[in-house]
Amino acid sequence: MTTVALILAAGLGKRMKSALPKVLHPILGDPALLWVLRALPPAVDSAVVVLHHGREQAEAALASWAAQGLLPCPATTVDQGEPLGTGHAVQSAQAELDRLGAERVVILCGDVPLIRPETVARLAQAEPRLLAMDLDAPDGYGRIKQRADGSLEAIVEHKDAAPEVRALRRVNGGAYGLPWGALKQALGRLGNANAQGEYYLTDAVADLARTTRVAVELCAPDELMGMNSRRDQAELQAHARDRVNGAWMDQGVTFLEPSSALVGPRVLLERDVTVAPGARLQGAVEVGEGASLGQGCVVTDCRIGAGAEIRPYCVLDRSQVGPGCLIGPFAHLREGSVLERGVHLGNFVETKKTTLRAGAKANHLSYLGDAEVGERTNVGAGLITCNYDGFNKHRTVIGADVFVGSDCQLVAPVSVGDGAILGAGSTITSDVPAGALALTRAPLTLKEGYAQYLRERQRAKKRR
Ligand code: UD1
Ligand code: CA
Repeated sequence: MTTVALILAAGLGKRMKSALPKVLHPILGDPALLWVLRALPPAVDSAVVVLHHGREQAEAALASWAAQGLLPCPATTVDQGEPLGTGHAVQSAQAELDRLGAERVVILCGDVPLIRPETVARLAQAEPRLLAMDLDAPDGYGRIKQRADGSLEAIVEHKDAAPEVRALRRVNGGAYGLPWGALKQALGRLGNANAQGEYYLTDAVADLARTTRVAVELCAPDELMGMNSRRDQAELQAHARDRVNGAWMDQGVTFLEPSSALVGPRVLLERDVTVAPGARLQGAVEVGEGASLGQGCVVTDCRIGAGAEIRPYCVLDRSQVGPGCLIGPFAHLREGSVLERGVHLGNFVETKKTTLRAGAKANHLSYLGDAEVGERTNVGAGLITCNYDGFNKHRTVIGADVFVGSDCQLVAPVSVGDGAILGAGSTITSDVPAGALALTRAPLTLKEGYAQYLRERQRAKKRR
């Protein structure tokens, strides 16, 4: 049985008031459409995304997710043209579904991000079904009418519904698992004589339900909540946060304040990790056992080793932090920073494309770019690697057990051999051999008693 997921995402999303297509707006760092695609279970063979408004942006995003291996199955797109309703959206995908040999189609909305994989798996089962929810405030949704045996009889859109139908609290969740052949036939008979002049998918589903039993499956409302406005987005993010953080607490992670820590859906935390208030972990982040993430840290696409301590207000991007490292407060690891075991990086240290070998330390106020720092080397306060000459970037290589005095500059390309000592305040412009002392210093001028003389001269001037 070939099952194809069809994801409707051609709508304009006018109420988002945004240049970005609605389905690309993020929830905990991942776009809504990526959440939906990642909820597809193994029973789904491929996905087709129906696009129109913002199509180029969405297609570029899809290509990049596929290239990163983030999608559970192949995904193609179709352009609906001017969107004329959810039924029209499915009609526009007909040729693509046929090409893929679809036998069953699972229809989802690209702006309903929190549907769970278990729920989508139920839609991929043999029996035709749709998801419904019971709402206290059902306004705007299609109402579900059921037969005596509970199966679907009809779906009436809010705008077309008489008062007694509007009183129904059971609404259509907009997610379906249906036989493609029967749905295709029903779509062939679809008209748009309704309050909105749209081709309603719901009419085709009700038509199909006259000959095929369609089960009405109740689902938790937070799984079916759509993102139509920035308020919805914030509410969805709060739901997602509670779900994600709650699941990690069950796995042995401590959150000092679960309501303020934002942990993305692709983050992996080992047990005894501690997450402080205001920490934000997004993209593909892995954190090893017992590591701690300090208040206000922002970590994107990083691996953090067991027992590492990320102190407050650090920003880590596309970097690796080895076990037992001590980072921050206020450190900035930019892309390609690799810290081996037990590295210490203190306050106001910035690294980029730089490797610090095991036990190396840079505790204060430094920039290390395009550099390598050997094992146990101590980088004193204020080291700057001058990696950019205004035209090109160059590398700095510092060996093992080097002592770098405070306030040095290393003008790249340059290397410092193992065990060398660089005197404080030196500007190093050529390679330093292993074991050497390198020092560049202007001679010190000392005039005994001269400070006193200057002060007296100043006072005498004022008196005049
Ligand atoms: C639809 C259902 C309604 C259900 C509700 C659940 C219909 C007619 N109504 O309502 O019964 O309660 O979902 O949220 O199906 N889209 C397209 N092309 C179009 C129109 C819509 O791709 O021409 C996409 C939208 O981008 C969105 C999804 O389909 O992702 C649903 O569209 P939306 O307008 O939000 O659905 P409603 O009409 O509100
Ligand atoms: Ca609509």
